[in-house]
Amino acid sequence: MSHMAINRPKGTMDLLPGSIETWQRLESVMRELCDLYGYAEIRTPVFEHTELFLRGVGETSDIVEKEMYTFQDKGDRSITLRPEGTAPVVRAFVENRLYSAAQPTRLYYTGPMFRYSRPQAGRYRQFNQFGVEVFGSRDPLLDAETITLCMDFFDRLGLSNLQLHVNSVGCPVCRPRHKEALKTYLAPDFDALCPTCQGRYENNPLRIFDCKNPRCQEIVQDAPTITSCLCDDCRPHFAAVREGLDASGVAYIVNENLVRGLDYYTKTAFEIMVEDIGAQSSIGGGGRYDALVEEIGGPDVPGIGFAVGLERTILSMEAQGVTSANPEKPMVYIAHVSGKEKQAAYGLAIVLRKAGIRAQTDVMDRSLKAQFKYADKSGFTHVVTVGEEEVSSGMYTVKDMTQGSQQRWTREEMIRNLDGGTKHE
Ligand code: HAM
Repeated sequence: MSHMAINRPKGTMDLLPGSIETWQRLESVMRELCDLYGYAEIRTPVFEHTELFLRGVGETSDIVEKEMYTFQDKGDRSITLRPEGTAPVVRAFVENRLYSAAQPTRLYYTGPMFRYSRPQAGRYRQFNQFGVEVFGSRDPLLDAETITLCMDFFDRLGLSNLQLHVNSVGCPVCRPRHKEALKTYLAPDFDALCPTCQGRYENNPLRIFDCKNPRCQEIVQDAPTITSCLCDDCRPHFAAVREGLDASGVAYIVNENLVRGLDYYTKTAFEIMVEDIGAQSSIGGGGRYDALVEEIGGPDVPGIGFAVGLERTILSMEAQGVTSANPEKPMVYIAHVSGKEKQAAYGLAIVLRKAGIRAQTDVMDRSLKAQFKYADKSGFTHVVTVGEEEVSSGMYTVKDMTQGSQQRWTREEMIRNLDGGTKHE
């Protein structure tokens, strides 16, 4: 009896052999780079108390208002699948008192995030981020360093044509000043704002800059930007961040309308856009959050970080044709002639693997011809044939599948000649 097939939930993906290699490459590039910059990895739970995101990400953000996977668990606690990584890392920083070690604390993470939004190209309900968070320093050079690390990641993957937008969204000193200036400016057009923005007008008018509604966009076009209202602390800080970027040779665009979708940012905010992947063009973003650690119940410790969307990064790599495969290492198939040599073939595979050479043998009871066909289809670079004669003489025929040539080698010769691709990585 056959049952109806079950499909994966909407907005999720299976990463299958063939594409997983690109993911592994991204992971090894991120680990190498983080090591270079002195970041250590942190892994936090995939779910947290809902309260963390209400406080951390902000009640007026789209994420909290519409996109969270929230449920009551069997103990009647409100639990949320993490929609982002910053609030959880801040929580872990506070809970584990990482602030009592010598500062700064440099952390990185990678893993799945969950947002309930309408799936489309580049937008998923489960997606993966690579992110970093640094605690304990307000130095604008750190902002420049963090942004440079993010751009280095894209650079190492071979991506080009990226646009880095940077802005300063001020602090609790300049924000209220700007809020008043903005409200005064928008008041005559209040009735023309969309209903969502009318709501934002009182609570968080800065978010009106982020509205997709064309009429709202028109209205805020010439409105006073937060950047024009920066206080005597934030203005020189932003100038120093830009100087730091200039020193790193990182190209950027100052975008005074850049406000990010999360409420915790103070001072520096940035986003990286790419043109080749359609409407969801933001492949990464981040900024400073000098009040968040306190908000989550910790001491007055500043922070800064970013997160990169890995699906969008891979889409960009595909669009730009830079998804190069790993250099081919030898992969050896050891075929038996008649079934009688199966054991000998198996033994030879063990010897090769011990020497670090990738090797497989038949487990499907195929004929010699069918084994060759399988090896060819599956991308084996070499096929070793094991028959009665080979077992007694200890000399094996090794066929190079890419060139079609054949050699007769002893086990030792085989190991010597085939290990070139595996040893010197
Ligand atoms: P975010 O801008 O919400 O920032 O997300 C960062 C990146 O995650 C985006 O630029 C995008 O590439 C990817 N992303 C977001 N939503 C989706 C989705 N539904 N499907 C696919 N990719 C998506 C944050 O999450 C902050 N925690 C970044 C940060 C770290 N700020 C400071 N530290």
